[in-house]
Amino acid sequence: MVVDNTPITAAYQVLRDSILYFRGEAIGTVAARDPLLVAPNYDECFVRDFVPSALVFLLDGEYAIVRNFLVTVLKLRDQQQVMEGHQRAPGLMPASFKVVIDETGEERLQADFGDRAIGRVAPVDSALWWMILLRAYAIASGDEALPRRADFQDGIRLTLNLYLKESFETSPAMLVPDASFMIDRRMGVHGHPLEIQALFYGMLVTAYDMLLPTPENAALRDMVLKRLRTLRSYVRIYYWLDLQRLNEIHRFKAEEFGYDAVNVLNIYPESIPDWLDGWLGQEAGYLVGNVSSGRMDFRFFAFGNLLAIIFGLATPGQGQRIMRLYEDRWDVLIGQMPLKILYPAASGKEWAFLTGNDPKNAPWSYHNGGNWPVLLWAFTGAATLTGRADLAERAVASVMERLPRDQWAEYYDGKSGALVGRRANYHQTWSAAALIIAHHLLENPDAFIRFQPMMFFNAEA
Ligand code: GLC
Repeated sequence: MVVDNTPITAAYQVLRDSILYFRGEAIGTVAARDPLLVAPNYDECFVRDFVPSALVFLLDGEYAIVRNFLVTVLKLRDQQQVMEGHQRAPGLMPASFKVVIDETGEERLQADFGDRAIGRVAPVDSALWWMILLRAYAIASGDEALPRRADFQDGIRLTLNLYLKESFETSPAMLVPDASFMIDRRMGVHGHPLEIQALFYGMLVTAYDMLLPTPENAALRDMVLKRLRTLRSYVRIYYWLDLQRLNEIHRFKAEEFGYDAVNVLNIYPESIPDWLDGWLGQEAGYLVGNVSSGRMDFRFFAFGNLLAIIFGLATPGQGQRIMRLYEDRWDVLIGQMPLKILYPAASGKEWAFLTGNDPKNAPWSYHNGGNWPVLLWAFTGAATLTGRADLAERAVASVMERLPRDQWAEYYDGKSGALVGRRANYHQTWSAAALIIAHHLLENPDAFIRFQPMMFFNAEA
């Protein structure tokens, strides 16, 4: 592919300017360097936002900053506040952290576990990303010693213990509150959102690979292996939707008792939304947004589907069909600025009910059907892994010039994503990092495979 490298040079400048230093060492990147920040905490390093930055550093062989980040986040677990009447959840990791100057003029790190964030949301995805990144770092750098260190082995165990703890589950999927991942405001994504299931699966696979096979780890390793297998089958069956499955659901009988029920979750066919009529072509399919008793959230969530491909949670056949859906529905799912975060937007009473009347999540804006350049990295990763680099080339080519011109906006508004988001930051780090990764992967399609957890489980797929 012939591309003008100027936008990539500009993207690197944004990334370099975002580096966060602590006592002289690079330890992360801030979310945005916009002088007119929309929210005061965009000058913090968010764990999830650092992931695309880290992938750029790993692809470029700049390992120290990623290592420092992994060490820092592990230590910051100790700053977790405990609410009265609660116990600490030591496997939890912060949503973000910042450098503050204390009374003595010394630099200190201050973590946020949702205790300072808007709406006090729970950072469920942080420890999942931390684990996945730890393994990507070890593979890319060859520093296999870091995950083996005693404090890291402890961290891996604590996180596994927390995320595998029994609660009120009736399925292998993980139950979480609303807003506990990239969509970090109320958006009807409580329960068993796909993105969390994909990250959970990626975490289990990477943790299994890194947790040393000692006698004291034997029971935990066994549980991890069983859970990742049951989770994988469950998602592949119950979240999957193509025309054939839609037809089955359309004709479902409801209110079935007993072990032999076909409509196990009691999904009423009447809950199939009108927009799905005629939306899925013969060759297309996707994983739905959320599944639980009596509930199938039919919305298409881009990141969950793409991560399911990258981590090998979707079968290879499902991966092909998801990419086919992108091809068939290019105008709505990619539009003028890749990619639509979810489709379709909620409006009217549904919007009021799902978001609590949140004006930032107005229809076709922000989390409610806005377009997010950051998703380009996952789209390119999934496209190259499924042999559909042609789709990624098309998406990247369409925005190469525009992203720097729009000063690396955070998100876009409108059905086709034509407008810079009303309250979007400029100089959003992960918008720039995503373009660098996408460009890199198109030039070196094999680069990504090195980080891919699924390779360990391909044989049983
Ligand atoms: C918004 C996004 C969240 C991101 C944060 C910082 O809150 O929804 O995913 O981590 O901004 O960029």
